[in-house]
Amino acid sequence: MSPEQAKQLVAEAAMEYIEWDWVIGVGTGSTANLFIDELAKIKGQLDGAVASSEASADRLRNHGIKVMELDQVGSLPIYVDGADESTKHRHLIKGGGAALTREKIVAAASDKFVCIADDSKLVGMLGKFPLPIEVIPMAKSYVGREMVKLGGNPIFREGVTTDNGNIIIDVHDLSIDNPVDLESKINQIAGVVTNGLFAQRGADVLLLGGADGVTTI
Ligand code: A5P
Repeated sequence: MSPEQAKQLVAEAAMEYIEWDWVIGVGTGSTANLFIDELAKIKGQLDGAVASSEASADRLRNHGIKVMELDQVGSLPIYVDGADESTKHRHLIKGGGAALTREKIVAAASDKFVCIADDSKLVGMLGKFPLPIEVIPMAKSYVGREMVKLGGNPIFREGVTTDNGNIIIDVHDLSIDNPVDLESKINQIAGVVTNGLFAQRGADVLLLGGADGVTTI
């Protein structure tokens, strides 16, 4: 089974968590896009969606789904999004699509975070996928040096400006054996907006697609 087929399976499986008249939190990336396409099939039964990126907001609007601001709706019953890596403890690395900060905000404001991914994203230890960090532009070099002190190899992501007007640093070569602790440590560095570890608020449900269908963790 191709990764695309696996992503489609979990996008469909996530629909079982959706109830009528909800405002849904919607993530970013190729798997979230497939979920948005599934949402479009029941759009008449949804009150709307809060998107974690401008790209997802555009896709929702193109399907005729009402896009709302988080401030308009308060807390959300559910947030559905992909991930770049996940452990079996549902600790995640996210931000490959540079949307990590808004993703973290919408996840934090949601009662349940359902993460959908193809099963190649399941890892024993986080860190093979470079950890994205959103950084205020003037702090680029400083944050890079701090990440070297933490054992990482920071690489500036060329040509990318986030929806919030900031830059992304991808930190390679981290062996993340304590993601909860590292998430805090990096967030305390001046100039860091947030980092792509979703460990303190990880996923509540992880749906993995693969040759055997959908596995729920
Ligand atoms: C976006 O910033 C990311 O957090 C995505 O959720 C992540 O990169 C997964 O993307 P795919 O679904 O395209 O693999």
